[in-house]
Amino acid sequence: MMDLVIPDKVHDESRQGEALVLEPVAGKNNGRKLYIESYGCAMNFSDSEIVASILAEQGFETTADHNLADVIFINTCSIRENAEQRVRNRLKEFTVAKVKNPGLVVGVLGCMAERLKSKFLEEEKLVDVVVGPDAYRDLPNLIDQVDSGQKAVNVLLSREETYADISPVRLNSNGINAFVSIMRGCDNMCSFCVVPFTRGRERSRDPQSIVAECVDLFNKGYREVTLLGQNVDSYKWKPSSESEVVSSESKDTSNATTPETTNFANLLEMVALINPELRVRFSTSHPKDITDDVLYTINEYENICNYIHLPVQSGNSRILEMMNRTYDRDWYINRIDAIRRIITDCAISTDVITGFCTETDEEHNDTVTMMDYVKYDFAYMFKYSERPGTLAAKRYADDIPEEVKQSRLAQIVAKQQEYSFYRMQARIGKVEKVLIEGYSKKSDKDYCGRSDQNAMVIFPVGENYKPGQYVNVLIERSTSATLIGKVVN
Ligand code: 5AD
Ligand code: SF4
Repeated sequence: MMDLVIPDKVHDESRQGEALVLEPVAGKNNGRKLYIESYGCAMNFSDSEIVASILAEQGFETTADHNLADVIFINTCSIRENAEQRVRNRLKEFTVAKVKNPGLVVGVLGCMAERLKSKFLEEEKLVDVVVGPDAYRDLPNLIDQVDSGQKAVNVLLSREETYADISPVRLNSNGINAFVSIMRGCDNMCSFCVVPFTRGRERSRDPQSIVAECVDLFNKGYREVTLLGQNVDSYKWKPSSESEVVSSESKDTSNATTPETTNFANLLEMVALINPELRVRFSTSHPKDITDDVLYTINEYENICNYIHLPVQSGNSRILEMMNRTYDRDWYINRIDAIRRIITDCAISTDVITGFCTETDEEHNDTVTMMDYVKYDFAYMFKYSERPGTLAAKRYADDIPEEVKQSRLAQIVAKQQEYSFYRMQARIGKVEKVLIEGYSKKSDKDYCGRSDQNAMVIFPVGENYKPGQYVNVLIERSTSATLIGKVVN
């Protein structure tokens, strides 16, 4: 099934099920090997790095070969039915391995663990551990429990946990781009979405810990950070009342910092100021929350990339209301117009769901005309998949026939292909600043990297530049997914 086109790093389908490797922490090797496979969104990949970090502290060494593992974790996704099915199939393979090696610990982490809780242990009898996204600090205890012959479950959601103090071990990293989680959970309750149930309430991470993590990455040679949250525009950090008292009572007022709320625009600026050579990206923005302030900040700093992922979901106001997106078509168009007005040359991508409950052909056509209006650079397109427990599952019948969903999806996928090609073609003859990420997938005679607008750019390898450096590339031709050119001064 064609679900997605043109993946970027945040949504990269080719990374699904990626195994993760790290070196053991010196002196703490406990002789046991951990294998983690990740599915779903970038937040899950980022969480796997936190899990690896927590277990590295316990002396676990990570392996890329599950045949060598003593502990196998799958970090799972529940966003659509087919994501869960993929995990179940994979899990079957691991539980077969467990029959041969009864000492093997098999665990399920992430959104499916949270959604199904201990039911998982009944359904998949060979699973030993079930751990939700806010309970990873408990993993060492849970593994101990399994070692002593019990099954272990912790799916408690937290209002505070941000893992702010855990410095993630960078797994499968190219040493150039890293994800940095800035918040967790989601309070939006879009009616189709399971995330508020699996990842809990929204909470923001202390900005100082975010900046410290980005500074550390920069010092280690990283040149791009992607700030991650389900809804980055509602990022909000208020210093605790304790620190307010301390600073207001401080005698030395010259050094007293007034505690102020940090919003997403402020955070973007703080990260951008670390170093002009550090590119800043972010995902995901929400049309109801993205402010002009954020747009002005993006435009002001050259190193904040001109690329916004702004999921529309539907172009029709009645469907948007049923989806509980809390904006309508006009509001969304107003935000698109603001992006075009405030930011010079900004790429925009989106998410679309086709065949949501009761959607008529005319209403679907509003999504098509929205695509005509915005001419998105990229789009991630999905058929509606009913998720148990969501508002839509409770309130509305999933009444659009599969073939209608499929044909609407095929129509918008074809349309997006045209607009992606149109946007790419428009770059021909222009010079793009590209951060080199490594060899291109197809040939070690070419490098690849991303432009400011997040387009993948391919150009010949040269002696004077290497991965981690910026080069100017004159674009000579394009496909609908890639720009091709040569380095110029
Ligand atoms: N069915 C189809 N697509 C969904 N998404 C979220 N929930 C569902 C669902 N139940 C899509 C939305 C969201 C993206 C991450 O996944 O488009 O923005
Ligand atoms: Fe799901 Fe909506 Fe939250 Fe995104 S904003 S995670 S679609 S509830």
